Amino acid sequence: MTMPAGTTLTDQFGRRIEYLRISVTDRCNFRCVYCMPEEGLAWLPKQDILSYEEITEIVGQLAPLGLRRLRITGGEPTIRPNLAALVRMLRDVPLIEDIALSTNGVRMTELAEPLVAAGLDRVNMSADSLRPDRIAAIARRNLPFDPIRSATAMERAGLAPIKINTVVMRGINDDEVEDFARLTLEHPWHVRFIELMPVGDMRSLTWEHVVPSEEILDRLSALGSLAADDGPARGIGPAKFYRVAGAPGTVGVITPMTHTYCGSCNRVRLTADGRLRTCLYGDHEVNLRDPLRAGADLVPLYVKALAEKPLEHHLLQMQVGGLRALSQVGG
Ligand code: 5AD
Ligand code: SF4
Repeated sequence: MTMPAGTTLTDQFGRRIEYLRISVTDRCNFRCVYCMPEEGLAWLPKQDILSYEEITEIVGQLAPLGLRRLRITGGEPTIRPNLAALVRMLRDVPLIEDIALSTNGVRMTELAEPLVAAGLDRVNMSADSLRPDRIAAIARRNLPFDPIRSATAMERAGLAPIKINTVVMRGINDDEVEDFARLTLEHPWHVRFIELMPVGDMRSLTWEHVVPSEEILDRLSALGSLAADDGPARGIGPAKFYRVAGAPGTVGVITPMTHTYCGSCNRVRLTADGRLRTCLYGDHEVNLRDPLRAGADLVPLYVKALAEKPLEHHLLQMQVGGLRALSQVGG
């Protein structure tokens, strides 16, 4: 089955699918309280994980059907050896315009430059606190991580835009909303506050830890008057942005709990073990790895998967603990 280059497939609801998130590992060097239990999860065996060659082959087969933008995720992608090699291979796939990375930032002081040299365009970094003791308490690992140092290293290496994602948790880090927002007054960084989602294994968190975006925006108004902003030009994602007059950066809120974005969803996901997920939640998975390893054409499988992409998820109606962690489904 061949498609003329430049076709963009739409799903059954007319949404153009041009964005693929690729998980390269389900493992992580952190154990964030909202993501995974302290002892970790049942990790995928190595042989089940796609090689860099296999990932590149999948992207190469799907790009002519409309994929233009890629995001490398995990788990924590930078703990997979030689991630720059994958970036370089993906950079060489025709039609791919943009390659982004989602990372916890721990290794970015050393990896920003080699990743940029390999062709990485931009980055989202998670940072839930600016205080070392709190970072260790939330991540439940005491690794050297200074969000400002990592963001500065990424900016110097040429990554742009730089987005910082902060999951806001009542009584845990919600008193740092202003401190994070103040970073945007001095740096061209885009801080996005994320509503805590009740997914994965969150033994210590409850709905009471969720801070609705309206409340986050109230706290931001302490910085001065906020004007609605388009945000970083290349960041087309589910966030609303605001800028303090004259600030180089923007602040934003991502509201998975109080609003859904399903109607404009433009993305699909590839798990580390080679399953295509057309929705973050639910059981919509198509195994691409085994057909690939058997030498099959993936295009018909992809076309069928998009035709079955669900209209929306039902996260708001779900119970805490009933869903896979984002580290397992590639965020
Ligand atoms: N709630 C909200 N965001 C989450 N993330 C992971 N788990 C959750 C959750 N339960 C997002 C955050 C984090 C990134 C790695 O994934 O943005 O920064
Ligand atoms: Fe790791 Fe990200 Fe999950 Fe934290 S949220 S444990 S950094 S995968």
